[in-house]
Amino acid sequence: MHFPPLALPCVLLASITDAVSTFSPARPPALPLAVKSPYLSTWLSAGRNGGNGGYLAGEWPTFWEGQVAGWAGLVRVDGQVYTWMGLPGSTTVNQTTYEYTSTKSIFSMHVGNMVEMNITFLSPITPNDLRRQSLVFSYLDVSVTSLDGQSHNVQVYADISAEWVSGDRSAIAQWDYGVTDNGVAYHKIHRQTPLSFSEHRDQAEWGDWYWATDSGASFTYQAGADVDVRGAFAKNGTLSNTNDANYRAISDKWPVFGLSHDLGSIISSTSVLFSIGLTQTEAIQYTGRSDTLTPVLSLWTSYFNSALEALDFFHHDYQISYIFSSGLDDQIAKDSIAAAGQDYLTITSLSVRQAFAATQLCGSPESPYLFMKEISSNGNMNTVDVIFPAHPVFLYTNPELLQLLLQPHLEIQESGHYPNSYAMHDIGAHYPNATGHPDGNDEPMPLEECGNMVIMALAYALKANNTEYLARHYTMLRQWTNYLVEDAIYPANQISTDDFAGPLANQTNLALKGIIGIEAMSVIARMTGNSNDSRSLTNYAHEYIERWTTLGIAHNATQPHMTLSYGSDDSHGLLYNLYADRELGLNLVPQSVYDMQSDFYPTIQQQFGVPLDTRHRYTKGDWELFTAAVASTSTRDMFIRLLAEWINRTPTNHALTDLYDTVTGDYPQITFVARPVMGGAFALLLLSEGL
Ligand SMILES: *[C@@H]1O[C@H](CO)[C@@H](O)[C@H](O)[C@H]1NC(C)=O
Ligand SMILES: *[C@@H]1O[C@H](CO)[C@@H](O)[C@H](O)[C@H]1NC(C)=O
Ligand SMILES: *[C@@H]1O[C@H](CO)[C@@H](O)[C@H](O)[C@H]1NC(C)=O
Ligand SMILES: *[C@@H]1O[C@H](CO)[C@@H](O)[C@H](O)[C@H]1NC(C)=O
Ligand SMILES: *[C@@H]1O[C@H](CO)[C@@H](O)[C@H](O)[C@H]1NC(C)=O
Ligand SMILES: *[C@@H]1O[C@H](CO)[C@@H](O)[C@H](O)[C@H]1NC(C)=O
Ligand SMILES: *[C@@H]1O[C@H](CO)[C@@H](O)[C@H](O)[C@H]1NC(C)=O
Ligand SMILES: *[C@@H]1O[C@H](CO)[C@@H](O)[C@H](O)[C@H]1NC(C)=O
Repeated sequence: MHFPPLALPCVLLASITDAVSTFSPARPPALPLAVKSPYLSTWLSAGRNGGNGGYLAGEWPTFWEGQVAGWAGLVRVDGQVYTWMGLPGSTTVNQTTYEYTSTKSIFSMHVGNMVEMNITFLSPITPNDLRRQSLVFSYLDVSVTSLDGQSHNVQVYADISAEWVSGDRSAIAQWDYGVTDNGVAYHKIHRQTPLSFSEHRDQAEWGDWYWATDSGASFTYQAGADVDVRGAFAKNGTLSNTNDANYRAISDKWPVFGLSHDLGSIISSTSVLFSIGLTQTEAIQYTGRSDTLTPVLSLWTSYFNSALEALDFFHHDYQISYIFSSGLDDQIAKDSIAAAGQDYLTITSLSVRQAFAATQLCGSPESPYLFMKEISSNGNMNTVDVIFPAHPVFLYTNPELLQLLLQPHLEIQESGHYPNSYAMHDIGAHYPNATGHPDGNDEPMPLEECGNMVIMALAYALKANNTEYLARHYTMLRQWTNYLVEDAIYPANQISTDDFAGPLANQTNLALKGIIGIEAMSVIARMTGNSNDSRSLTNYAHEYIERWTTLGIAHNATQPHMTLSYGSDDSHGLLYNLYADRELGLNLVPQSVYDMQSDFYPTIQQQFGVPLDTRHRYTKGDWELFTAAVASTSTRDMFIRLLAEWINRTPTNHALTDLYDTVTGDYPQITFVARPVMGGAFALLLLSEGL
């Protein structure tokens, strides 16, 4: 077996960029820039296959789906212009370092030995502050200082293009310029004809984009053709304070929206702040308990009277927001290192923005919802078997967020708007339309989703100390458990969450989920005073698990292990559903099964991990992390080490995929991008913390 070289050697990078940057704690496949919601999701591809290797200057940032999101940065130093972001054409500055935390991407750049720039992309995450979390905005802070002790004349410029407002480059963009009462200068850009609740290449076709900075004496702006606006800055260091109102197609003389600050003669650190964001008053359509599809407001509209008020608040909130986000960064860093070391932090800190940015807060403070997009795989809304792998990050940061993700499922099914007796797969076939499945024709994953719903309901209630929640939803949870009792021991031929791998009968790991779900329901019954249910369900669970340990084992294997499906001794798979037994503290599954699996995985490891199962060479990063969380220390560390190494070396080019080839590190036939399931990285942290 031979392994192709994956990372570009440093010499090669050096010749591309003139200088070599460090990447800390890793060089991820794509560097998160502004990553805050399904529609504000801008990355810099590290471009191992043809890109420039993770340098902010010299390559365009892209939307997660891959299309360019024109975002350019220029700096003038003593009359010479340089590019620090994007590919607008001038000489690039020299990137020296790149670092990411859970909420920030921080670049350091040198312009000769004259000045240093620190460029910080902060996508704030405030899990316990829904007002701040509800804003679909992100910061870009640029600070400049003299490197050589001499004073230098510096102007800083940044623009966005109209590419942000639609995925259709022939769509007509329209724009405006203004200044808020509190001195925030902004370009407002939108599709001339908004298409409510519509997407094009996964970009939103409705809502207003704001691109803003502080106004003031040294500030100028300009909207117009890219060459004109960037050209004016390059030539003069100022913009014309004009707003070319020739509204036109995004690709017609590419309109860009420039903001520029003349810092004058600087010697010590001086900074300018930009904010980028999307405001949609109505963000989602939802049927819920009713029969009619109704628009749901973005949650921020409950806290702010207008988009401008929200923008104003956000822009002036930088210091406080920075402190909150740094608090989260530090907590995740401390907990991750304590749980499993630096490699683990490399993974968790890259995953948290990605997981949160698949969600959006809507509704009102009295009745909030968290909607989630199944990004890249099919756009389903609040998919149960996507929430399940992602759920550890939400329980870890604020268990109420998990409750808000499950809420629409309970509303639709408890009000009788779903005909099947097992749990619904998702709340709508495509974000942002939560139309439910009144015909019952959703992707059928009955055992998977019934198990997931019961397990997550209990996990939430334990973490949030909310027994009343279990009592309120008892009937529905009990109904789903009937399905588990019928099907869990001999799962019918069906797909599991890993639907791309195809259907199979008697899946060992799927059966395990169902059996654990039964025991979880027994605990729910006990907590809510339904002791008869509790007794009979725990009897089922214990009887099933005893049979399962025999049915599921590879009897004659040289290295004992559980199978992929009953009786097929040559098969194996990641037994990631064991995680829920530990998570909920059930102690249902014998320790011998944990030990056997821990001993087995190292024997089948490949260069970048352990295959998902014997049908393919690919694996799932999220399930590896669930598996690792309940493995022996040495096996856990093997999983984590290989995944961290994969992050550094994978030839994949977009926001973290959860599906990759364990030998080449590349995408298999299927390309998954930016999916929230990577929130599963927090599985181990959740166990360390306890419910
Ligand atoms: C970048 O570094 C190279 C090599 O040291 C140097 O030749 C070049 O002038 C630098 N460019 C800038 C903009 O600092
Ligand atoms: C950039 O960050 C580094 C490390 O925090 C700091 O030492 C340096 O002074 C900063 N430079 C600027 C221009 O802010
Ligand atoms: C959502 O539904 C609306 C009609 O209400 C439709 O125009 C739009 O294309 C749908 N959006 C998506 C992403 O399917
Ligand atoms: C250059 O900037 C000055 C002010 O700094 C302004 O008066 C002049 O019109 C600008 N020239 C161009 C070509 O934009
Ligand atoms: C959990 O909730 C119960 C009932 O509301 C309360 O009595 C108890 O103090 C709570 N426990 C903790 C640890 O907060
Ligand atoms: C499942 O396994 C049992 C026991 O080995 C077997 O009797 C049954 O036929 C299997 N089911 C299917 C659908 O293959
Ligand atoms: C619980 O089971 C006992 C014994 O089988 C029975 O007498 C009792 O009525 C049951 N209670 C409920 C609430 O069903
Ligand atoms: C295991 O091996 C024994 C002895 O070779 C054989 O009798 C038995 O049928 C095998 N069991 C399975 C499940 O393959």
